[in-house]
Amino acid sequence: MKAAVRLYRFLRGWRWWRIKFRAWRNGSTLKIGTGSYILSPTVSVSIAPGATLILGNDVCLRRYTTISVLERIEIGDDTLIAEMVTIRDHDHVVSNNPSIPHRKAGFVKAPIVLGKNVWIGNKVTVTKGVRIGSNSVIAANSVVTKDVPTNVIAGGTPARIIKNITSEPM
Ligand SMILES: CC(C)(COP(=O)(O)OP(=O)(O)OC[C@H]1O[C@@H](n2cnc3c(N)ncnc32)[C@H](O)[C@@H]1OP(=O)(O)O)[C@@H](O)C(=O)NCCC(=O)NCCS
Repeated sequence: MKAAVRLYRFLRGWRWWRIKFRAWRNGSTLKIGTGSYILSPTVSVSIAPGATLILGNDVCLRRYTTISVLERIEIGDDTLIAEMVTIRDHDHVVSNNPSIPHRKAGFVKAPIVLGKNVWIGNKVTVTKGVRIGSNSVIAANSVVTKDVPTNVIAGGTPARIIKNITSEPM
Protein backbone atom coordinates (compact mmCIF):
# COMPACT_ATOMS: atom_id res chain seq x y z
CA MET A 1 0.00 0.00 0.00
CA LYS A 2 2.80 2.40 0.97
CA ALA A 3 4.55 1.68 -2.34
CA ALA A 4 1.36 2.52 -4.22
CA VAL A 5 1.07 5.85 -2.36
CA ARG A 6 4.73 6.62 -3.10
CA LEU A 7 4.24 5.81 -6.78
CA TYR A 8 1.12 7.99 -6.91
CA ARG A 9 3.01 10.93 -5.32
CA PHE A 10 5.94 10.42 -7.68
CA LEU A 11 3.63 10.52 -10.71
CA ARG A 12 1.94 13.68 -9.40
CA GLY A 13 5.35 15.32 -8.96
CA TRP A 14 6.58 14.05 -12.29
CA ARG A 15 3.75 15.79 -14.12
CA TRP A 16 4.87 19.14 -12.63
CA TRP A 17 8.51 18.44 -13.37
CA ARG A 18 7.79 17.98 -17.09
CA ILE A 19 5.94 21.31 -17.13
CA LYS A 20 8.69 22.99 -15.07
CA PHE A 21 11.33 21.70 -17.46
CA ARG A 22 9.46 23.04 -20.48
CA ALA A 23 9.00 26.41 -18.71
CA TRP A 24 12.70 26.59 -17.84
CA ARG A 25 13.65 25.71 -21.44
CA ASN A 26 11.43 28.32 -23.08
CA GLY A 27 12.15 31.16 -20.63
CA SER A 28 8.73 31.32 -18.97
CA THR A 29 8.05 31.52 -15.23
CA LEU A 30 6.25 28.82 -13.28
CA LYS A 31 5.86 29.03 -9.51
CA ILE A 32 4.05 26.30 -7.63
CA GLY A 33 3.33 26.16 -3.91
CA THR A 34 3.48 22.98 -1.92
CA GLY A 35 0.83 20.30 -2.24
CA SER A 36 -0.52 21.44 -5.61
CA TYR A 37 -1.20 18.62 -7.99
CA ILE A 38 -2.38 17.60 -11.43
CA LEU A 39 -4.73 14.66 -11.19
CA SER A 40 -4.21 13.26 -14.66
CA PRO A 41 -1.89 13.32 -17.69
CA THR A 42 -4.84 14.70 -19.68
CA VAL A 43 -4.32 18.13 -18.04
CA SER A 44 -2.66 20.58 -20.42
CA VAL A 45 -0.58 23.47 -19.07
CA SER A 46 1.24 25.67 -21.57
CA ILE A 47 3.18 28.82 -20.73
CA ALA A 48 4.53 30.96 -23.57
CA PRO A 49 8.07 32.32 -23.45
CA GLY A 50 8.14 35.30 -21.07
CA ALA A 51 4.72 34.46 -19.59
CA THR A 52 4.07 33.65 -15.91
CA LEU A 53 1.93 31.04 -14.19
CA ILE A 54 1.71 31.17 -10.40
CA LEU A 55 -0.08 28.51 -8.38
CA GLY A 56 -0.43 28.72 -4.62
CA ASN A 57 -0.44 25.81 -2.18
CA ASP A 58 -2.79 22.84 -2.52
CA VAL A 59 -4.22 23.78 -5.91
CA CYS A 60 -5.87 20.84 -7.66
CA LEU A 61 -6.25 20.50 -11.45
CA ARG A 62 -8.55 17.70 -12.55
CA ARG A 63 -8.89 15.74 -15.80
CA TYR A 64 -8.93 17.35 -19.27
CA THR A 65 -8.39 20.85 -17.90
CA THR A 66 -6.43 23.33 -20.01
CA ILE A 67 -4.46 26.31 -18.75
CA SER A 68 -2.82 28.38 -21.45
CA VAL A 69 -0.77 31.44 -20.55
CA LEU A 70 0.54 34.09 -22.92
CA GLU A 71 0.90 36.79 -20.25
CA ARG A 72 0.03 35.91 -16.63
CA ILE A 73 -2.30 33.65 -14.67
CA GLU A 74 -2.37 33.45 -10.87
CA ILE A 75 -4.28 30.80 -8.93
CA GLY A 76 -4.58 31.11 -5.15
CA ASP A 77 -4.16 28.54 -2.38
CA ASP A 78 -6.69 25.70 -2.09
CA THR A 79 -8.36 26.48 -5.38
CA LEU A 80 -10.08 23.47 -6.94
CA ILE A 81 -10.37 23.31 -10.71
CA ALA A 82 -12.67 20.54 -11.88
CA GLU A 83 -12.74 18.52 -15.12
CA MET A 84 -12.69 20.03 -18.62
CA VAL A 85 -12.11 23.59 -17.46
CA THR A 86 -10.41 26.06 -19.82
CA ILE A 87 -8.49 29.07 -18.54
CA ARG A 88 -6.79 31.21 -21.19
CA ASP A 89 -5.49 34.73 -20.72
CA HIS A 90 -5.77 35.57 -24.43
CA ASP A 91 -7.96 35.54 -27.51
CA HIS A 92 -7.16 35.69 -31.19
CA VAL A 93 -7.58 39.21 -32.50
CA VAL A 94 -10.78 39.40 -34.52
CA SER A 95 -9.66 41.49 -37.43
CA ASN A 96 -11.98 43.62 -39.53
CA ASN A 97 -10.04 42.44 -42.53
CA PRO A 98 -11.52 39.07 -43.56
CA SER A 99 -8.44 38.21 -45.62
CA ILE A 100 -6.46 37.80 -42.38
CA PRO A 101 -7.15 34.38 -40.85
CA HIS A 102 -8.01 34.54 -37.16
CA ARG A 103 -5.05 32.38 -36.25
CA LYS A 104 -2.67 34.83 -37.97
CA ALA A 105 -4.20 38.05 -36.61
CA GLY A 106 -2.22 38.03 -33.36
CA PHE A 107 -3.45 37.87 -29.77
CA VAL A 108 -5.13 40.14 -27.30
CA LYS A 109 -4.02 39.32 -23.74
CA ALA A 110 -5.03 40.22 -20.19
CA PRO A 111 -3.99 38.54 -16.94
CA ILE A 112 -6.34 36.26 -14.99
CA VAL A 113 -6.38 36.04 -11.19
CA LEU A 114 -8.22 33.36 -9.24
CA GLY A 115 -8.29 34.03 -5.50
CA LYS A 116 -7.88 31.55 -2.66
CA ASN A 117 -10.29 28.68 -2.14
CA VAL A 118 -12.12 29.20 -5.42
CA TRP A 119 -14.04 26.21 -6.77
CA ILE A 120 -14.35 26.12 -10.56
CA GLY A 121 -16.99 23.56 -11.62
CA ASN A 122 -16.88 21.17 -14.57
CA LYS A 123 -16.60 22.54 -18.11
CA VAL A 124 -16.20 26.16 -17.07
CA THR A 125 -14.38 28.58 -19.36
CA VAL A 126 -12.59 31.58 -17.85
CA THR A 127 -11.72 34.24 -20.41
CA LYS A 128 -8.93 36.81 -20.48
CA GLY A 129 -8.71 39.54 -17.87
CA VAL A 130 -11.08 37.91 -15.38
CA ARG A 131 -10.55 38.07 -11.59
CA ILE A 132 -12.47 35.67 -9.38
CA GLY A 133 -12.55 36.56 -5.70
CA SER A 134 -11.58 34.22 -2.87
CA ASN A 135 -14.09 31.59 -1.64
CA SER A 136 -16.31 31.98 -4.69
CA VAL A 137 -17.79 29.10 -6.69
CA ILE A 138 -18.33 28.99 -10.45
CA ALA A 139 -21.20 26.69 -11.39
CA ALA A 140 -20.70 23.91 -13.94
CA ASN A 141 -20.75 24.83 -17.66
CA SER A 142 -20.39 28.57 -17.05
CA VAL A 143 -18.44 31.02 -19.19
CA VAL A 144 -16.85 33.67 -16.99
CA THR A 145 -16.25 36.84 -18.97
CA LYS A 146 -16.32 39.45 -16.17
CA ASP A 147 -14.92 39.71 -12.65
CA VAL A 148 -16.62 37.72 -9.89
CA PRO A 149 -16.41 39.10 -6.31
CA THR A 150 -15.47 37.14 -3.20
CA ASN A 151 -17.91 34.80 -1.40
CA VAL A 152 -20.48 34.26 -4.14
CA ILE A 153 -21.76 31.47 -6.36
CA ALA A 154 -21.81 32.61 -10.00
CA GLY A 155 -23.06 30.67 -12.99
CA GLY A 156 -24.40 30.72 -16.52
CA THR A 157 -23.17 32.11 -19.81
CA PRO A 158 -22.06 34.79 -19.26
CA ALA A 159 -21.66 34.01 -15.54
CA ARG A 160 -23.75 36.11 -13.16
CA ILE A 161 -24.05 35.99 -9.39
CA ILE A 162 -26.52 33.28 -8.36
CA LYS A 163 -26.24 33.70 -4.61
CA ASN A 164 -24.02 34.93 -1.81
CA ILE A 165 -22.12 32.55 0.40
CA THR A 166 -22.89 33.59 3.93
CA SER A 167 -21.28 32.21 7.04
CA GLU A 168 -23.92 30.50 9.13
CA PRO A 169 -23.47 29.77 12.83
CA MET A 170 -22.42 26.13 13.42
C1 LIG B 1 -23.55 25.87 -8.30
C2 LIG B 1 -23.79 24.55 -7.62
C3 LIG B 1 -22.62 24.25 -6.67
C4 LIG B 1 -25.11 24.51 -6.88
O1 LIG B 1 -25.13 25.42 -5.82
P1 LIG B 1 -26.43 25.52 -4.91
O2 LIG B 1 -26.11 26.51 -3.85
O3 LIG B 1 -26.87 24.18 -4.48
O4 LIG B 1 -27.42 26.17 -5.93
P2 LIG B 1 -28.91 25.75 -6.28
O5 LIG B 1 -28.95 24.37 -6.83
O6 LIG B 1 -29.79 26.07 -5.09
O7 LIG B 1 -29.24 26.74 -7.46
C5 LIG B 1 -29.36 28.13 -7.25
C6 LIG B 1 -29.72 28.76 -8.57
O8 LIG B 1 -28.58 28.63 -9.44
C7 LIG B 1 -28.94 27.95 -10.64
N1 LIG B 1 -27.82 27.11 -11.06
C8 LIG B 1 -27.30 26.06 -10.39
N2 LIG B 1 -26.29 25.53 -11.11
C9 LIG B 1 -26.17 26.26 -12.23
C10 LIG B 1 -25.32 26.19 -13.35
N3 LIG B 1 -24.36 25.25 -13.45
N4 LIG B 1 -25.46 27.13 -14.30
C11 LIG B 1 -26.41 28.07 -14.22
N5 LIG B 1 -27.26 28.20 -13.17
C12 LIG B 1 -27.13 27.29 -12.19
C13 LIG B 1 -30.17 27.14 -10.26
O9 LIG B 1 -30.95 26.83 -11.37
C14 LIG B 1 -30.86 28.06 -9.30
O10 LIG B 1 -31.54 29.06 -10.02
P3 LIG B 1 -32.97 29.64 -9.51
O11 LIG B 1 -32.67 30.31 -8.20
O12 LIG B 1 -33.37 30.59 -10.60
O13 LIG B 1 -33.85 28.45 -9.36
C15 LIG B 1 -23.95 23.39 -8.63
O14 LIG B 1 -25.11 23.64 -9.43
C16 LIG B 1 -22.77 23.21 -9.53
O15 LIG B 1 -22.64 23.81 -10.59
N6 LIG B 1 -21.85 22.34 -9.07
C17 LIG B 1 -20.63 22.08 -9.75
C18 LIG B 1 -20.49 20.57 -9.95
C19 LIG B 1 -19.13 20.28 -10.45
O16 LIG B 1 -18.69 20.80 -11.43
N7 LIG B 1 -18.42 19.43 -9.73
C20 LIG B 1 -17.03 19.19 -10.01
C21 LIG B 1 -16.41 18.38 -8.90
S1 LIG B 1 -14.81 19.03 -8.50
